[in-house]
Amino acid sequence: ALPRDLHGLRVVVSAGGTREPLDPVRYLGNRSSGKQGYALARVAAQRGAEVVLVAAHTAALPEPAGVDLRHVSTALEMRDAVLEAAQAADVVVMAAAVADFRPAARVEHKIKKSEDRPDPEISLVRNPDILAELVENRKPDQVVVGFAAETGDEQGSVLDHARAKLRRKGCDLLVVNAVGDGRAFEVEDNAGWLLAADGTERAIPLGSKAQLAATVWDAVSEYGKR
Ligand code: C5P
Repeated sequence: ALPRDLHGLRVVVSAGGTREPLDPVRYLGNRSSGKQGYALARVAAQRGAEVVLVAAHTAALPEPAGVDLRHVSTALEMRDAVLEAAQAADVVVMAAAVADFRPAARVEHKIKKSEDRPDPEISLVRNPDILAELVENRKPDQVVVGFAAETGDEQGSVLDHARAKLRRKGCDLLVVNAVGDGRAFEVEDNAGWLLAADGTERAIPLGSKAQLAATVWDAVSEYGKR
């Protein structure tokens, strides 16, 4: 059995991918399976935490035992649910893939092909950054954890991008996954780095998403005691 070392800790975890509706039958979505967020929620509950899991769209996943599961669909719904739950939380972990943009207008009727009208164009507006809002409204001693999926490019390595993102977002911990080449998304294994606002960095070896979740909760409880 796992140690109940998170007993008494109130945590909020977000998971899955949001869907941004275009019309009554279509949406913009992403490939998040929700597996990492569900693993974080399951492991936290097993270690004794009180867990609210705010889930957007996921693959078919078993409901984690002993977790308060709240379903949402869009980024705006996720924002409301997460900010509400965060008010009574010691830790918030944003593992969800939140759409950065949503269609500017939600069309009331199904968009149709037409011979006499030009093909439609989709115009997008920015969604709020929930992680940034959490940091802005953070209560004293609340720990806010973000996730980042990064690829290296001419501008810098995965770690360079991640360090910049940690500073920009202002969260306490940032879990960084290198993505591309079939990594991280929709697969069982995950690896990366864990960066803390106090400058500590550790590599997370390739392992199951449950193992990565355990590493994150270890770091959270260490960070909370600093
Ligand atoms: O900037 P980027 O999207 O890479 O940041 C990822 C982190 O920010 C994740 O923790 C994600 O859950 C969170 N996020 C958010 N609201 C958004 C976009 C991302 O909370 N609109």
